Amino acid sequence: MQVSAYASRITPSATLAAGAKAKDLKAKGINVFDFSTGEPDFNTPAHICDAATKAMKDGHTKYTPASGLAPLKEAIAEYHKTWHGLDYKPADICVSNGAKHAIYTALLAVLNPGDEVVIPTPYWVSYSELVKMTGAVPVLIDTPKEAKFRLNADQLRAACTPKTKLLMLNSPSNPTGSAYPADQLRAIAEVAVEKNLIVLSDEIYERLIYTDTPFQAFGALGPEVFDRTLTINGVSKTYAMTGWRIGWTCGPAPIIKAMDNIQSQQTSNPSSVSQYAAIAALKGDQKCVEEMKKEFIKRRDYVCDRLNSIPGISIDPPDGAFYAFFDIRAYLGKTFGAKKVSDSQSFCLALLEDGHVNTVQGSAFGAEGFARMSFATSMETIKGGLDAMEAWLKSGK
Ligand SMILES: Cc1ncc(COP(=O)(O)O)c(C=O)c1O
Repeated sequence: MQVSAYASRITPSATLAAGAKAKDLKAKGINVFDFSTGEPDFNTPAHICDAATKAMKDGHTKYTPASGLAPLKEAIAEYHKTWHGLDYKPADICVSNGAKHAIYTALLAVLNPGDEVVIPTPYWVSYSELVKMTGAVPVLIDTPKEAKFRLNADQLRAACTPKTKLLMLNSPSNPTGSAYPADQLRAIAEVAVEKNLIVLSDEIYERLIYTDTPFQAFGALGPEVFDRTLTINGVSKTYAMTGWRIGWTCGPAPIIKAMDNIQSQQTSNPSSVSQYAAIAALKGDQKCVEEMKKEFIKRRDYVCDRLNSIPGISIDPPDGAFYAFFDIRAYLGKTFGAKKVSDSQSFCLALLEDGHVNTVQGSAFGAEGFARMSFATSMETIKGGLDAMEAWLKSGK
């Protein structure tokens, strides 16, 4: 039996595929240092788990409204008001099964086949595939390391055609960790208004910023910008809740209503118990976030110092998130044992197979010449993995 044309167009997630490859080696008894997945290694804080247990005991195990429970929407509205000064009402909020699902549903609600979507590159692996899954066309705009991997307003203006419908932004970014300063976002917003673009602003890492430059929510740049922004957020990264699958979109009520309709046919609702856990995360003590952030800063500093001490490898410390996107161009063209490394994919494969260190090739994020290492893992793994990587790199000729 043949799969559909739609299914055959979809590329599997490169980060999940890299994780699976490492698991295969581990199953063979090989000790692999795995830096491929973007998942905090911390347990979900106890008070959040307790809220989920209480929800189950209280019988909150039934269907909920398709776009989420009213108390969760209230908690989300309060969260965005407190942290970013954004005024969302419950009708402006749709809760989905994780931020990835939120992004896909939001794209389905606004895109028509043939619409163009501008995606600054490097981009999170799923963006271009999720756009393609709607029939729209991703337009990738390269943002080099020298520009801190950030799109500028002139690049956006030059990329726009009469078919351009939407801009996808991600600050702080996966894979680069780069966060946009307010003035650069303001210039981008001016073009978005001029060209009548919708902006999907993925802010899932906004609480994990390590510099003194404050995070700027795109929707908070003024009323004209607010009206065209779809803000994406969720509990996965901030509260170490990846498996609970709660993310959301905030935006104009008619788009949110369309998302609600899509979800009512597609998934019925996000998990009831997880929604209660998310309320506890958003309304509870935020000390847990500060503690995890402190640990991420320690790891970021260690990883960047070590990487920059390796000849030919370089990285500017990321502003936020938990990824080191490092420059490997000096190693392309070298031979490791019998393997010639010609691009980021062959580099990461040889590093995994022979050095037993699992990273993700930059090409999966649309950026050749780089590799991504997640530091959302223990210091012990980070130290061991960097030792192994350094030794493997030394063997290159
Ligand atoms: C930039 C970005 N957006 C969205 C997501 C998806 O988050 P969730 O696990 O809530 O679906 C991720 C996860 O890696 C991400 O890195």
